[in-house]
Amino acid sequence: MKGIVFTEFLSMVDEVFSPLVTEEIILACDLKTGGAYTSVGTYDYKELVALVVALSKRTETPVSQLVKAFGEYLFFALVKNFPEHIDTNQDIFSFLESIEDYIHIEVKKLYPDAQLPTIACEQPQNGTLLFDYKSRCPFADLAEGLITACAEHFKVAVSITREKVCETGTSATFMIQKMA
Ligand code: HEM
Repeated sequence: MKGIVFTEFLSMVDEVFSPLVTEEIILACDLKTGGAYTSVGTYDYKELVALVVALSKRTETPVSQLVKAFGEYLFFALVKNFPEHIDTNQDIFSFLESIEDYIHIEVKKLYPDAQLPTIACEQPQNGTLLFDYKSRCPFADLAEGLITACAEHFKVAVSITREKVCETGTSATFMIQKMA
């Protein structure tokens, strides 16, 4: 997993909790990296899982709630880091459909070692998008947070529900409906 995901996670913990909490969770995990990440480096995603679990214990907040909140934080960080790929005038569904075929492909050109999820979209009816996420990483909650922030960014009111739930979090289908 690319370092930008780790550096943004630690920034979120600094901002939402405190730099002391960041230090404490790093110490609580037995990390190969010792918690030192650079945005262009590549690290084992299990370190991120360990950090989230430690944060969950430290803050008595469910892991899934923390991962979703991180997804929202990460979306805005990605927009800031890759502004050239985000056209706010686009329709939100076209944007979500372009993640697999354009955005993540551009990410892969930039970072050939990036390991990205597989996303398949379908519009069964007007105003509804089915967004299917599959990954080797258990980050369905991260995907949900990213989609939530995406709707906020595009200033569109949507409801997001999970159609299919996989317990490990490595796959999920989200039904995204535009609200009238
Ligand atoms: C709603 C929008 C998006 C969704 C749902 C989404 C989904 C995801 C997920 C779930 C991951 C974690 C890896 C995994 O689960 O396999 C990921 C990784 C990543 N995404 Fe996206 N993404 C979105 C938008 C973007 C945008 C706008 C950018 C940048 C232009 C971007 C760049 C990246 C990068 C750099 C990674 C890290 C790759 C790695 O760890 O090797 N994504 N994406």
